[in-house]
Amino acid sequence: MRELPKVELHLHLEGAAPPAFVRGLSKEKHVDISGIFDARGNYRYKDFWDFLKVYEAATSVLQSPEDYRRLTLAVLEETAAHGVVYAETFLSPDFCGGRDLGAWREYLLAIQEASDEAERKMGITLRGIVTCIRHFGPEKARETAICAAETAGDWITGFGIAGDEKAGAPKDFRWAFDCAREAGLRLTAHAGEWAGPEGIRDTLAALAPERLGHGVRAIEDLALVDELAERGIVLEVCPGSNVALGVYKDFRAHPVHELDRRGVKVTISTDDPPFFHTTMTREYEELHRAFDWDEGQFRRIAKVSLEAAFCDTDTKTKIA
Ligand code: ADE
Ligand code: ZN
Repeated sequence: MRELPKVELHLHLEGAAPPAFVRGLSKEKHVDISGIFDARGNYRYKDFWDFLKVYEAATSVLQSPEDYRRLTLAVLEETAAHGVVYAETFLSPDFCGGRDLGAWREYLLAIQEASDEAERKMGITLRGIVTCIRHFGPEKARETAICAAETAGDWITGFGIAGDEKAGAPKDFRWAFDCAREAGLRLTAHAGEWAGPEGIRDTLAALAPERLGHGVRAIEDLALVDELAERGIVLEVCPGSNVALGVYKDFRAHPVHELDRRGVKVTISTDDPPFFHTTMTREYEELHRAFDWDEGQFRRIAKVSLEAAFCDTDTKTKIA
């Protein structure tokens, strides 16, 4: 399972920060965030909303481009160790320079430097998806979209939205998505994780993304499942994340198998691996155990994922 070549489309860069790395930085910078760790040194949170707070506290120790360069290397080392050959990571100008365009460019350069180094040394290719945070509101999302549009290119390939799905409505973020689309960025949106089918329908209507982060609660409306399959909307499914946060009680109760069976394009990712005690290897092992997914199925998923990746075709050809 570990060796199978994998493609991961849904990975938050700060959410992938190893707790030891974050603890080390907090000591270097004399920031007391000891409350976010449990006795074993893992991240501790009560529910999704508490998880978002812990995530933001952990992120508070990432204060410079150099911190993000080190973070990116640490994350890619861990990701590559699980057979991932291509990954897309969510990046937020909110955390990287407070949406100031000049600062954002500096953070981005440092992250890309680490990405290039990891590609040379570990053979993993990374691309970035600039992400606004829904509960930070539409005005900040606009500024984020401008940062994204100004740096769109070979490396920044997409734009998305994460955060609290219950905050605001998708249409509040239409301007940001239109701005990103006009700059040539590909679009994805977190939906159908905490909100049900209506949240997915509203997101598709208002923002027209080609991929959905999670999207799994579409299963509650089979007409919507058929629509996703017909339109070829790709789901970035993160089963371990959904189980850890209590969306489903275990892997067997997760709809990923049924969504796949009904013809929806599903891909598999970890979301925020250390927060959810997961890795791509563990996701594959659990899916094998729960649904008897075999090597052929995993190779098919990796192919669907690479096709749905936001990078250019030359990059895809090199990876395939
Ligand atoms: N940010 C990081 N992980 C997230 C998740 N699972 N849902 C929404 N926003 C997030
Ligand atoms: Zn996510």
